[in-house]
Amino acid sequence: MLYSEKVMDHFRNPRNVGVIENPDAVGEAGNAKCGDIMRMYLKVENGIIADVKFETFGCGSAIASSSMATEMLKGKPLDEALALSNRAVAEALDGLPAHKMHCSVLAEEAIKAAIENYKATHKDA
Ligand code: FES
Repeated sequence: MLYSEKVMDHFRNPRNVGVIENPDAVGEAGNAKCGDIMRMYLKVENGIIADVKFETFGCGSAIASSSMATEMLKGKPLDEALALSNRAVAEALDGLPAHKMHCSVLAEEAIKAAIENYKATHKDA
């Protein structure tokens, strides 16, 4: 089996898909090679990620990675969220095929872009 059960589960039933109305921050990342795009929306309360949703126009691994990443981000302080690596996301999915690791990078980059967006627009962060 090329994909773990967790990857298949998050691909078939992605968590936290959609848009947050009036988000505190938005981040977007794209992969130039495959053209896939991911967008993350954040709600932040007292420096903690209270809610996160994503939209991914991309492959199954990108969908599974963003779904898992949102689950890992909820309730995390921003600085911890910033340290979340694509490897940690892939490990939480019980691994991705080597040629699909770049899809998890999309999730890491979208998170980082969203947190940078938050810091740029909230001086107290
Ligand atoms: Fe583009 Fe997976 S092939 S993100």
